[in-house]
Amino acid sequence: MTAFTKLFSPFKIGSLNIKNRTVMSPMETHLCDAEGFVTDEIINYYKERATGGVGYITLENTAVDPVGRVNDGMLCIYDDKYISGLKKLTECIHAAGGKVVIQLSHAGREALPYFTGTKPVAPSAIPSPLTKEVPGELTIEEVRTLVSRFAECAERTVKAGFDGVEIHMAHGYLVNQFLSPESNARTDDYGGDTIRRSQFAREIVENIRKRTPHDYPVICRISADEYTDTGIKLEESKEIARILEKAGASAIHVSACNYASAFYNIPCYYLDEGCFVHLAEGIKSVIKIPVLAVGRILSPSMAEKILQENKADLIVLGRALIADPCFPNKVRDGKLEDIRICLSCNRCIESISDKKLVCTVNPYIGKEGVSQLQKTLKPRKILVIGGGPAGLAATHVLSSRGHNVTLWEKDSQLGGSFRYASMAPMKEPMKKFLDYQINQVKKTNSSVQLNKEATVSSVKALSPNVVILAHGAKHVPVEIKGGQHDGVLNVKRAFMNIDSIGNNIAIVGGGAEGCELADFLAMRGKKVTLVEMRRVMGLELVAHPRYHVCERLKKMGARLYVNAKVTEIGRDYIIISRRREADQRLEGFDNIVIPTLHQSNTELISSIQSFVPEVYTVGDAVEGRTALEAIAEGTEIGMKI
Ligand SMILES: Cc1cc2nc3c(=O)[nH]c(=O)nc-3n(C[C@H](O)[C@H](O)[C@H](O)COP(=O)(O)OP(=O)(O)OC[C@H]3O[C@@H](n4cnc5c(N)ncnc54)[C@H](O)[C@@H]3O)c2cc1C
Ligand SMILES: Cc1cc2nc3c(=O)[nH]c(=O)nc-3n(C[C@H](O)[C@H](O)[C@H](O)COP(=O)(O)O)c2cc1C
Ligand code: SF4
Repeated sequence: MTAFTKLFSPFKIGSLNIKNRTVMSPMETHLCDAEGFVTDEIINYYKERATGGVGYITLENTAVDPVGRVNDGMLCIYDDKYISGLKKLTECIHAAGGKVVIQLSHAGREALPYFTGTKPVAPSAIPSPLTKEVPGELTIEEVRTLVSRFAECAERTVKAGFDGVEIHMAHGYLVNQFLSPESNARTDDYGGDTIRRSQFAREIVENIRKRTPHDYPVICRISADEYTDTGIKLEESKEIARILEKAGASAIHVSACNYASAFYNIPCYYLDEGCFVHLAEGIKSVIKIPVLAVGRILSPSMAEKILQENKADLIVLGRALIADPCFPNKVRDGKLEDIRICLSCNRCIESISDKKLVCTVNPYIGKEGVSQLQKTLKPRKILVIGGGPAGLAATHVLSSRGHNVTLWEKDSQLGGSFRYASMAPMKEPMKKFLDYQINQVKKTNSSVQLNKEATVSSVKALSPNVVILAHGAKHVPVEIKGGQHDGVLNVKRAFMNIDSIGNNIAIVGGGAEGCELADFLAMRGKKVTLVEMRRVMGLELVAHPRYHVCERLKKMGARLYVNAKVTEIGRDYIIISRRREADQRLEGFDNIVIPTLHQSNTELISSIQSFVPEVYTVGDAVEGRTALEAIAEGTEIGMKI
């Protein structure tokens, strides 16, 4: 029996009966085909989320006009030819016990011309903050045509069997561009004060109402705060929400940001959980129709509290459902420790800029139709070497499938390099995820042995049928003149020995690890100098965390040098060299941290291959990368053997 009584109480939006208060956020997957048609992959992806127990799914943003397609990963509904595919999708979701609303969208000035082959359109010829492309200003006739387009598409959604529509009026796309004083400088009926800037949105809602059945849910997703200096703020959004309510909207879905504030829109681990809930609360205070809250709502207790405190009527889950489609059912059944938690790392959003959706912790995305943990008909004796994310993933899958698995970890703890990841400030989700992985392994029959280093003789003595080498990368210190001095450390030692290192630290290498170590040290009051030879700090990081970690470092007064190569290290100094500038000596350091290269780890392979019938290498042992590849490869090999 669940303690989350309100979260699991039913609700209704218009004609849509919802079994609980959870809603899946619209999220592009790029699992459609290049023409925007539904594929089996996308059907299986959503079917799995329906099976996982979410109240209703909001299908990802779907183009109402070819010119408004943001890229070739966007689903389409601008023509009748799309209805049959979408109908197949709604039928599958309904058959799985789910409900589905579709998000209708036009990207306006954010559509990419290299893809659409045409100049983007917008309320005014004000360039996109991202692409800097100047859009064509829509004529008044074109604006009216677009209003009809949204309504025509809504009619198609009824034919395709959807349970409602959501209009994308947020995130800097076309309707948001009309609403915002930042992007709308029109002097006709569609520009000016709040009422006039809302006219496009209002007409869309009114027209949809006329062309869809009575009580058909029409949900409006708005950015209640654009998180920019001159954009929409909550007070104005309250007025907009009232206008939309009057026009016939069934509910308001309260999101935030536009393209200029995109680093806040999909809140990464540097931003607070539930960071937009206050906006939903503000909107709820002025309207009677239901309000949906979104934004890093990851914990069921936070979700329940938001509802209990009447800050919103429905809880929208985005990445939580990418990471674990069964999140709602697991919460309902009290299996909280089985939730594969989202790290808020934003690899997902980065992935869809040029390929299909991936997730660091969920290696099954796009493979939902494939049976995941099928029992083996031929149990084997398998040794997994290394208890990092790759080894843990492989051990869990192989043991769950009925193999006889032994995991050896040379350290006294499981987690591998990912433990260091979880030590950096704000990266507690990584620790929670490791706890989840370890717990999942504990539930299997595998034998986990700590402080157990695999050597050729120990492997020979065990005599396994299969060995999975998940023993991580080979860490090789970067060679720098003078790098052998006493006070010189590598990143891992610096993380582990915080109490014994001095107050003034130079970190050579502003890659992902260097930036996070700098953050870790600066947070503890150390004076930090970070030197990177490339143009950008934290180049390997996902763009959102990269932006935030750099901002944090600047705020804490860290000295940051880019385009600067450290050519020499002394006991308390470093020499940095920059193009067309004289070398510079920075001194007074207590410790200097140098980077390590994470190379492919071929140790053991050749020596055990002669007596182990099958040997596989996964994760960083193949090549130093990230937990995403480690978990994906560990899982894949686990499903294959
Ligand atoms: C500071 C830092 C921050 C990071 N941040 C992120 C992040 O935010 N997101 C992300 O995706 N990735 C991050 N990474 C990278 C991520 O941690 C690695 O890519 C991931 O841990 C690789 O997993 P793995 O299982 O392949 O190897 P590892 O995690 O390196 O695990 C290998 C394990 O094998 C053990 N081992 C080695 N040899 C033997 C042997 N002979 N016998 C028994 N055991 C052995 C080791 O002790 C270790 O526990 C970060 C890494 C660091 C250092
Ligand atoms: C991969 C990805 C794709 C997204 N695509 C859309 C989209 O199509 N339409 C939309 O309104 N928001 C989109 N978003 C934003 C989410 O709907 C949601 O607002 C955001 O992820 C914050 O919610 P969360 O913290 O629960 O993930 C996307 C987010 C992600 C991670
Ligand atoms: S990629 Fe990261 S942020 Fe995205 S769903 Fe997976 S764990 Fe969450």
